[in-house]
Amino acid sequence: MPTILDVQNLRKAYADGFEALKGVNLQIEEGEILALLGPNGAGKTTLISTVCGITTATSGSVTVAGHDIFKDFRAARTLIGLVPQEINLEPFERVRSTVKFSRGLFGKAADPALIEKILRQLSLWDKRDNQIRELSGGMKRRVLIAKALAHEPRVLFLDEPTAGVDVELRRDMWEIVAELKRDGVTIILTTHYIEEAEAIADRIGIIAAGEILLVEDKEKLMKRMGKKELEVQLTTKIDEIPASLKSDALRLNHNGTALIYTYDTRSERTGITKLLSEVAAAGLVLSDVVTRQSSLEDIFVDLVHEGDAA
Ligand SMILES: Nc1ncnc2c1ncn2[C@@H]1O[C@H](COP(=O)(O)OP(=O)(O)O)[C@@H](O)[C@H]1O
Ligand SMILES: [Mg+2]
Repeated sequence: MPTILDVQNLRKAYADGFEALKGVNLQIEEGEILALLGPNGAGKTTLISTVCGITTATSGSVTVAGHDIFKDFRAARTLIGLVPQEINLEPFERVRSTVKFSRGLFGKAADPALIEKILRQLSLWDKRDNQIRELSGGMKRRVLIAKALAHEPRVLFLDEPTAGVDVELRRDMWEIVAELKRDGVTIILTTHYIEEAEAIADRIGIIAAGEILLVEDKEKLMKRMGKKELEVQLTTKIDEIPASLKSDALRLNHNGTALIYTYDTRSERTGITKLLSEVAAAGLVLSDVVTRQSSLEDIFVDLVHEGDAA
């Protein structure tokens, strides 16, 4: 898939001198869903705002389908839809007219059939003549999405679409995102919910303190997550692993009192039975066995803390 969004060495220092983006590089492929995961204050909104031209970058470059966001702003911006973190709707406006108006802002010809399609897709058609103030919080979020889609963007940014929403609406949002992807829209969403990134992303990016720490295919990351460790504690300390047991999956802990075996929870055979019988055959006596799972959460916390230390 071709790259649709290319962010190169993007830096953003706010007026008070605080550097919220410290040289961000990010390439988004057309048609993918990227979840940008990061704690509060990581720079997620700053990154999106800079790409969408709401705040200006200090340095670096951004192109959307080859259009430079600085030199060729209108062409680039027209390709982008933005669902902001905060609900910023006019309470007395009506649903359909506010969505229609958003399309007009981009200089696109009115297209009632398209507006109807979008409103139906977001289950807002029945509310088309309601005022915004008459809608529930979840409905307002849907209106934000409808507005962002009204000018047919190819790239959609969703900034924390499910922060503070209930479980049901969160699942609806995920369904909406999946549907948009089927329509060919490229989606970048920010979240601080690990579960959300797991549920809908093709790739996961982790950002902390203004730096992208990792961007990786979700399946690969999940494979890494799927790793479990088995700690075989021994009654007597050993200096090295007996030759008969040596393997890449096995290591000795730092004080020689336990063997640590890493295995993949997803494979059919974990190798645990074999390991335990070989341990016994090697004359080692075990006192206890403990398992540990490394999760995306662990990976996330480790990475974010390394970032803090730097
Ligand atoms: N207008 C501003 N002036 C100064 N600092 C800001 C401004 N907006 C955001 N920041 C700071 O930049 C950092 C990143 O903020 P933000 O991009 O909103 O993070 P996130 O969306 O990941 O929670 C934070 O430390 C925040 O306090
Ligand atoms: Mg934010």
